[in-house]
Amino acid sequence: MIAQTLKWVGGVEGLLELIDQRRLPGEFVKLQCRNTEQLYEAIKTLAVRGAPAIGVSAAYGLVLGMQKLTGADNLERGLEVLADSSEHLASSRPTGVNLSWALDRVRRTAEQFVASEPEAKLQALRKVVLAEANAIYQEDVDMCRRIGENGRKFIKQGAGILTHCNAGALATAGQGTALSVIFEAHKKGGKFTIYVDETRPLLQGARLTAWELKQAGIDAILICDNMAGWLMKQGHISTVITGADRIAANGDTANKIGTYSLSILAKEHNIPFCIAAPSSTFDLSIESGGQIPIEERAPEEVTTFAKTQIAPDAINVCNPAFDVTDAANITAIITEKGVIENPNADSISKYLRS
Ligand code: MRU
Repeated sequence: MIAQTLKWVGGVEGLLELIDQRRLPGEFVKLQCRNTEQLYEAIKTLAVRGAPAIGVSAAYGLVLGMQKLTGADNLERGLEVLADSSEHLASSRPTGVNLSWALDRVRRTAEQFVASEPEAKLQALRKVVLAEANAIYQEDVDMCRRIGENGRKFIKQGAGILTHCNAGALATAGQGTALSVIFEAHKKGGKFTIYVDETRPLLQGARLTAWELKQAGIDAILICDNMAGWLMKQGHISTVITGADRIAANGDTANKIGTYSLSILAKEHNIPFCIAAPSSTFDLSIESGGQIPIEERAPEEVTTFAKTQIAPDAINVCNPAFDVTDAANITAIITEKGVIENPNADSISKYLRS
């Protein structure tokens, strides 16, 4: 069973229902967001997380934003509310580009509608915004499936696959990116072993990826992050596959902290290192990874483990949530359009424009 991470319930007056990922795997609880403030909080505190899922949720956040408009408001006011809601939601998490990509796309569609139908009713604009959010949702579902199909060839019979963080259904509207590859290979009867990095500090691997694989009936072995190198040396890992939060024009890729170290380890051990991501994760407006903003999160995430304090009071902490892997360390980027081997600025621009 693949989890349905997010779901819009109703029409323009509806609400966004999310699986509350802060409470997995102990509790499976749905969270209902009825305004942009609640959604902002859900994104910030990782109730919904993973770059594509954040992007799709934010698109629906603009439908929520417009619910505060009244019958007395006009189209111009509608666009103002969209701009304000968009700015607010965009500030929730800076690294994943899918967030601003989805917000900009919905706003552009709304602006084009107003330019072409200046006499339309506000209600029509609200329907256009919901339709665009639904389109982004459906495209994400389709892209996830195609990524899985395109990436299947990287999972050889008997392989040992290492994944980091959670790039599964919980991180998207569909069946995930890195895990989609695994789900598709499993469907075709592939026999392999999945190693799951626990992914400190917030344990997305242990809490979410391990849970998803169990739900899908796929055997997985959970490891602490610092065990990956040793397992590679012992010959247990034959491929690494992770997701991505933002890919620069030259292929440098931001993903969960720890991904860069894994890429170095993979290189040292001559193991293919693959990224699985939809085209909405590429940011061609930046040339290289140095320009990707890296989110710094609260020190308590490091000084505590499952809510228990594990470090002395007032210790200095560094807590970047993401790092950037150089394109040179990436064997292939698996997208919905195909596989980009040895990614660089030329191959990426050719693929995305195809
Ligand atoms: O902080 P998170 O849990 O949102 O980080 C998620 C990741 O780093 C994922 O690997 C990435 O968003 C890709 S998900 C398809």
